[in-house]
Amino acid sequence: MTTASAPGKLMLLGEHAVVYGQPCLVTAVDLRYFVTIERTDDEYVQVIAPDLVGSTEARNVPVREIGKQFIKETAYVEAVIAEFYDKYGVSTGLRVSTRGPAKSYGLGSSSAVSAATVMALAKEFGLVLSNKEMFDIAYASVLKIQRGKASGFDVASAIYGGLLYYRTGGTQIDSIQTTQLPIVIGYSGTKVGTVSLVEQVATLQKRHSEVIDTVYNTIGRLVEAAKHSLSEQDWHQFGELMNINQGFLDALGVNTAKLSSLIYSARDAGAFGAKLSGAGGGDCMFAITDSASRDSVIEAIQNAGGMVLDLEVNAGGVRIE
Ligand code: MEV
Repeated sequence: MTTASAPGKLMLLGEHAVVYGQPCLVTAVDLRYFVTIERTDDEYVQVIAPDLVGSTEARNVPVREIGKQFIKETAYVEAVIAEFYDKYGVSTGLRVSTRGPAKSYGLGSSSAVSAATVMALAKEFGLVLSNKEMFDIAYASVLKIQRGKASGFDVASAIYGGLLYYRTGGTQIDSIQTTQLPIVIGYSGTKVGTVSLVEQVATLQKRHSEVIDTVYNTIGRLVEAAKHSLSEQDWHQFGELMNINQGFLDALGVNTAKLSSLIYSARDAGAFGAKLSGAGGGDCMFAITDSASRDSVIEAIQNAGGMVLDLEVNAGGVRIE
């Protein structure tokens, strides 16, 4: 029996543009998901995922059917198993159980579960895989579920951990060394599916291709500049670039009034910068602030109706427990 765990993620800069070849910056967050895998003698993959499904009832899928029939909640676990079985010619029965935080806040439960599943499988079947090999398996399976519309930044974050500069498909995955980010994370309380937001932005791009391509390019440039400010730990400059990025996300149509209210409250309370994180439409925002303004920024986000999440960033990547 093997258990592996992987962290959630927080997109710092570059969301949406990353799907179209631009770089992004992402940090792993200490919201860990655990996957336990045990080989069995029967011909079923049994998945018990109370945190994902909301019940302790097991889902039984015949090994030969794995990856062919999904339910939304356990799709990522099963897709990784299917990808792994296919690649390594395995057809063994399995018992798989997952454990995670009660709420994911849009901080990457699917990617964390995918990363933990691939590492637990590799260990259980005696394979030593590099981070990139695990990434390739998990990313291929995520792509199948998300209809080809995923950059994979969240999978890379769950596997490598820390702070990453990332390009779509894992063509570039660079670790950035920095001290802890002076960050405050706020949850807006609402959620829209990532795939539908990515499709919404793709539709906008089709209608205004030159304009939106320019937006993507500019986001790419500001990510490069922000990478530099991260290495210099120039939080003032990093904050300014976050604010510019937020303006472009608004232009892409993925901001909401609630997120805006949290973001402007944080800025008014003295944050260097504040922006939404991820696909938009809800979920989280974050602010970068010096220690003098930290308490006021937290209070401002709470007063605007946000829930401040006390999470460590720069968390460790996937590991065997
Ligand atoms: C979603 O968290 C981030 C997006 O850029 C999608 C992706 O990168 O796969 C919108």
